[in-house]
Amino acid sequence: MASWQLTVGECVQVMAAQIEDNSIPLTITSPPYDDLRAYHGYTFDFPAIAAQLWRVTRPGGVVVWIVRDQVARFTESCTSFEQALFFRSLGFLVNTMIYAVRNPKPNPQRISYTPQFEFMFVLSKGKPAVTNWLTEPSKYAGISTNGSNGRAQGYIQGKNRTIQAHKRRGNIWWYSVGGSRRSDSHPAPFPPGLARDHILAWSHPGDTVLDPLCGRGTVGEEALPLGRHFIGIDVSAVYVAEAERNLQGAKPHEQM
Ligand SMILES: C[S@@+](CC[C@H](N)C(=O)[O-])C[C@H]1O[C@@H](n2cnc3c(N)ncnc32)[C@H](O)[C@@H]1O
Repeated sequence: MASWQLTVGECVQVMAAQIEDNSIPLTITSPPYDDLRAYHGYTFDFPAIAAQLWRVTRPGGVVVWIVRDQVARFTESCTSFEQALFFRSLGFLVNTMIYAVRNPKPNPQRISYTPQFEFMFVLSKGKPAVTNWLTEPSKYAGISTNGSNGRAQGYIQGKNRTIQAHKRRGNIWWYSVGGSRRSDSHPAPFPPGLARDHILAWSHPGDTVLDPLCGRGTVGEEALPLGRHFIGIDVSAVYVAEAERNLQGAKPHEQM
């Protein structure tokens, strides 16, 4: 049975006190984006959080760090790039993916094209131990071809060179945001599908998934039904109470 543990607290302190070195196979998380939103009061020490993530991640483990920059005075903050380079300086391998929004909000600032994506930095402590490559239907499934390009990309196999029904996904993943499922107050929840896809891609059933900035607990809500254990931390008691309710609604589960 998948189990879960939620803690109200500052995540650097909680990780330092509760999580062993080299123990976590997968973290999926998202920091406050510059000062875009006011949460229920926080201090955010990025270098200390990154160092804790390096410490707790087990060899071959993955951290998915999802982040967007503030845009002001005609420039992005570039915080996301700085964070990716800092993770690399700690020793993480860095692969950049994009979370693209199908239904972005109109851009009130009119100083750039409508923001429609966020970075998903897939950081691994050495070669990832789990790579369950997600696939999508091939547009040209069943068609015979001589194309060497398709063979190189892995969606054409064998001598007959027939395009397979499914191919490996690209590194831009699309989601819609909002919707009727949300009844709680968090201003920036993950789309459930985004959390689910990363859980499936980088972990096995029975693994533990960590979100040290867990908000309303979306990662846990998706992890438990997939047979993964969940550890969530948030500085806000309000959000942790919401996460608690959401995890209780996710089946099957039992509390640690
Ligand atoms: C972008 S939100 C995460 C939302 C989450 N992915 C979800 O689906 O609900 C970032 C969260 O980090 C929390 N937070 C900010 N600084 C923190 C810190 N130092 N320690 C723990 N939580 C923190 C905020 O309260 C906020 O809920």
